[in-house]
Amino acid sequence: MSRAEKVVLAYSGGVDTSVCIPYLKQEWGVKEVITLAADLGQGEDLNPVKEKAITAGASVSLVNNAVERFVTEFAFPAIQANALYENQYPLSTALARPLISQMLVEAAQEYGADAVAHGCTGKGNDQVRFDVSIMALNPDLKILAPAREWGMSREDAIAYGERFGLPAPVKKSSPYSIDQNLLGRSIEAGDLENPMVDPPEEVFSMTSAIAQTPDKPEYIEISFEQGIPVAINGTRYQPVDLIRTLNQAAGKHGFGRIDMMENRVVGIKSREIYEAPAMLALILAHRDLESLTLTGDVSQYKRGIEDTYSQLIYRGLWYSPLKQALDAFIQQTQARVTGTVRLKLFKGNATVVGRQSPYSLYAEDLATYGSQDEFDHKAAEGFIYVWGLPTKVWSKLTKD
Ligand code: ARG
Repeated sequence: MSRAEKVVLAYSGGVDTSVCIPYLKQEWGVKEVITLAADLGQGEDLNPVKEKAITAGASVSLVNNAVERFVTEFAFPAIQANALYENQYPLSTALARPLISQMLVEAAQEYGADAVAHGCTGKGNDQVRFDVSIMALNPDLKILAPAREWGMSREDAIAYGERFGLPAPVKKSSPYSIDQNLLGRSIEAGDLENPMVDPPEEVFSMTSAIAQTPDKPEYIEISFEQGIPVAINGTRYQPVDLIRTLNQAAGKHGFGRIDMMENRVVGIKSREIYEAPAMLALILAHRDLESLTLTGDVSQYKRGIEDTYSQLIYRGLWYSPLKQALDAFIQQTQARVTGTVRLKLFKGNATVVGRQSPYSLYAEDLATYGSQDEFDHKAAEGFIYVWGLPTKVWSKLTKD
């Protein structure tokens, strides 16, 4: 029995997604496979990938450049939300999935496909993100995930591919599973599966080893308009160039590495290594600018929203009503998050060392300890009387 007639497959050119092509046709009776490779700034030439899909039996091989959309529609809202999953991971892989899902659904519509497919296994987060995003965008499309069912080891998959004319990978493949795009790199597996193993320097490519970083600190100023980064050191950049420039600048000083134990959606704890220099620097700077321009209560309330927002992105709920509602809250808070933050980059660290804004709520004549002080000190006494009253009443009773 055929599972679908015409399928659009999310394609990376790797072993698994390549084997999906003959597998879908031979084992699942799919008549036509259209592949879609997304350029999200991973810095890889996708022309060979495009050809490889045809060799593997795809009828159409699409390559979509979506890097600008990735930054403006996905990364920027995440920065405005200071989105860090479990306080650490800036969601560089997670943010790409709803966008790829959108492209799959659009291509399915354009080519009249009745299903979309991806090469995720059953253990990760990405399958959840793809499936839920796709069902949110088009609940009528079938979703096929061959690698979730086929039960082949990597060797089995390579052998299966060879039977259908897919050459085995020439390079000895890396022991790591790596996902990469403009926003960052996610590195797992191999000896990193032992949480006590120090990640070898070879797993990193966006960030320098501390031994190789400059011996002098570098200061950079990042400017935001309504929570969106627009300039570095006074020069305006297009969104994609801004992220690229910042990845370089921060990565050169060894800033942007994360080593964490992470709770996956499917209930497994996993050890994850990330590199995301620009995203981490931008969130650091953006959060600081908020501390200058938002009232304390909005900032504090937003922290809770940010945590929920990060979880929604991580758990595949980008296209959900709760996410939309939180977006409205976050956008409302960003109206005056405009200004400049100065960061000091040095030996693996990025530190905020200055900030300014035309909407600064900091009033020096109130804060100063000098002679310009305008704060009414006497007013504090009455305030403290009222503020402490409930505690005082309670204390009297319990001390009796
Ligand atoms: N744990 C990360 C996340 O859930 C990274 C996933 C990496 N994906 C991969 N295919 N290697 O977002």
